[in-house]
Amino acid sequence: MTEQDNLGFDTVCVHGGHQEDGHRAHLTPIYATSTYTYDSVEQAVNIFKGDEKGYIYGRFGNPTINEAEDKIAMMEAYGLKDSQGNQLQLKAILHASGMGAITTMVLANVKAGEKIITHQSLYGGTQELIDKVLPGLGIETIIVDFHDLAKTEEAIKADKSISMMYVETPANPTLQCVDLEALTALAKQHGLTVCADNTFATPYLQQPFKYDVDFVMHSTTKFLNGHGTAVGGIVIGRDLEKMNGIVTKTHRLLGGNSNAFEAYLLTNGLRTFSLRMERHCGNAEKVATYLNEHAAVSWVNYLGLESHPDYAIGKKQMKHPGAMLSFELKGGFDAGVKFINSLKLCTSAVSLGTCDTLVVHAASTTHVGVPRDKRVEYGITDGLIRMSVGIENVEDIIADIEQALS
Ligand SMILES: Cc1ncc(COP(=O)(O)O)c(C=O)c1O
Repeated sequence: MTEQDNLGFDTVCVHGGHQEDGHRAHLTPIYATSTYTYDSVEQAVNIFKGDEKGYIYGRFGNPTINEAEDKIAMMEAYGLKDSQGNQLQLKAILHASGMGAITTMVLANVKAGEKIITHQSLYGGTQELIDKVLPGLGIETIIVDFHDLAKTEEAIKADKSISMMYVETPANPTLQCVDLEALTALAKQHGLTVCADNTFATPYLQQPFKYDVDFVMHSTTKFLNGHGTAVGGIVIGRDLEKMNGIVTKTHRLLGGNSNAFEAYLLTNGLRTFSLRMERHCGNAEKVATYLNEHAAVSWVNYLGLESHPDYAIGKKQMKHPGAMLSFELKGGFDAGVKFINSLKLCTSAVSLGTCDTLVVHAASTTHVGVPRDKRVEYGITDGLIRMSVGIENVEDIIADIEQALS
């Protein structure tokens, strides 16, 4: 199914992108093949020219990968209209990782000598790409506080070489949110291409294309896959000519393509995506409320709590505050280590969005190499625990936290 046909979002999750298999397999098989055959030279020519649909080579595309791409494109476009009032059509390209997708998107759009404008709280890998790799290719980045629209506009006006705005909302790990509608409107006034990393919110909670962004990125490794079985990333775009042209070309030539097995795992996860998200979100709300009242916790960072500085932005552009939260333990570093070591059900691991609840004590793991003063400056305080709330029975998650804190 590749047309939306007024179907519900849950139906799109189950059926979206599925095409009948030549052998009538119920589920699209894992097409483990590196190349494809043709009936004739003429047919090959037509497929190469794009005049006839067909596959050419594994790095360029694969039916198993295609299903995941079309399903996610339909989810991001769900219920949205194009400028003619028709169902918005998007194209998605699956990559080996979220970082692979971001790299393709940036290199397909930003040339040496041009600049990207972005904000402070990006996922660490994206920040490192901006700091350590892109400058070597002649692409510099300007970092501003996207909460301050006047200063953002000032910065855009001051530098004519800025050609892209890159937004991550909510951001990893701070859960900071920025106003997609206002920022995209501002960027468009100045002719910038806008890209939004929608990994934390997912299309279940937030659809950046509603605000006319040009590209949406995901680390599919997280809630979209949902089971922690495969690393992946996707770039989705509304300009189909650009997606079929320079973005496809860049994807093929950089070689960050996905593979049939991991795409199959992703599609399998996507079928239950909306059910999982509903439970993830409901559980997170209860866990956040519980932690907020706990004597051992000094504060809770959750978008659903009015105490969160971006509560209003989250409420405006997201269907629900989501399933990610962090909290600070009063006992600092030692309390963080003790808490993690005492958990019996929740899993100590990086990443997020899996069925099971994942927790990280950042100061002793992900940020152990960062000097304390720098780490604290980034908001990674000594007793900070990040939690991706899973879909277990919420009483069991809370009981595990309770026993670990006591
Ligand atoms: C918001 C966000 N964007 C991008 C990435 C990179 O994705 P991947 O690890 O799949 O390359 C991550 C990874 O954690 C992330 O959290």
